[in-house]
Amino acid sequence: MVHTLDQKKIEEELNQKRINQVEPFISNDDIESVVSYLKSGGWVTEHNVSRNFEEQIASYVNRKYGIVVPNGTIAIYLSLLALGVGPGKKVAVPNLTMIATINAILWTGAKPLLVDVDKDLCMSYEKLIDQKNLHTVIFVPLNGRGGDGKKIETWCKKNNINLLEDSAHALGSNYSHKACGALGDISVLSFTPHKIITTGQGGMILLDNNKYKNLINDLKLFNRRKDKSDWHKGYGLNFKFTDLQSSLGLSQFNKINKFVKHKKQIEQEYLKLINNGNIKVLKFKEIEVPWFFDIVVSTKKRKEQLIDYLNSKNIETRNCYPALSKQKYLKNVSKTNLDYSEKMFGKLLWLPSSNNLSKKDVKIISEYISNFKDNE
Ligand SMILES: Cc1ncc(COP(=O)(O)O)c(C=O)c1O
Repeated sequence: MVHTLDQKKIEEELNQKRINQVEPFISNDDIESVVSYLKSGGWVTEHNVSRNFEEQIASYVNRKYGIVVPNGTIAIYLSLLALGVGPGKKVAVPNLTMIATINAILWTGAKPLLVDVDKDLCMSYEKLIDQKNLHTVIFVPLNGRGGDGKKIETWCKKNNINLLEDSAHALGSNYSHKACGALGDISVLSFTPHKIITTGQGGMILLDNNKYKNLINDLKLFNRRKDKSDWHKGYGLNFKFTDLQSSLGLSQFNKINKFVKHKKQIEQEYLKLINNGNIKVLKFKEIEVPWFFDIVVSTKKRKEQLIDYLNSKNIETRNCYPALSKQKYLKNVSKTNLDYSEKMFGKLLWLPSSNNLSKKDVKIISEYISNFKDNE
């Protein structure tokens, strides 16, 4: 038995407090930033504060341009359109990712191809390179892990295949050769409340190519003529952001180093404190930032028991995304052999991961997990 805290005290505290799997971290400087923007007389919609937000993030990941949009799903969609993805085009997508990645492909009318993941839970390089007639690959640094992103980037370049990086989870993380957010032709970020930084909802497209940038801005801004009249060069929609959200994004981004440090410290605590033969805490590399802390439980049944047990202690967890191949509406999508992703997703569980977690929270969670015995 691992028992370093007084059990009764723990129970008392948890009766008052639920530990959420995720929550946004909002501090006074965020509030001040938004209030000060509102007092500035700005028109609230997208303008100069958004330009500043785009420039700061682009420079952080070493991209030339950033384009803010209402969310990460739209960011993927517009990026795919800029790359020429549409009906008849084949787009590789990892079998373990959030649903938005594949739905954005379907939105363009293109044909997804599900590719298995490797031990880092990212797209398998070995399985990808056997595929033919690919127009575009979407690589997802899932949970902040870089996997074989670098090798896949080199392979795509050599074979003249577009590479889109869905870096929704990975702001602050790195590959061995560059930052997440800078891989391939275009990258996207998401700023929902559980992401490294949040604007409530929000997304950003990061890129270096001026032609793609202009195409995306045309689609995003009604394809308005340069003179800002109501004459239009062609078809376009409205995917503008707001300066109100960007003012929050900027103050959140000011804390990025603190968030990254905190995430890494929490990972070390979980690794040190969780001690249960049926549970493995997955490690990250030094250059990576854990977004969610993932554990692998020996069987799906044990995992479900653990979820219920932690829930009864007021601790919320989250199942890893189901493999896309298991979603009924995607059953006719083409696929590689998907053995690893289909075997793994049922055993993967995400522990509380927010930037609000204290060391003490982690100690409590880890103790429960270490002492957990299943009913078998
Ligand atoms: C990997 C991945 N891609 C895309 C998205 C979509 O982003 P959004 O929710 O901002 O539309 C998410 C959202 O969590 C995600 O996890």
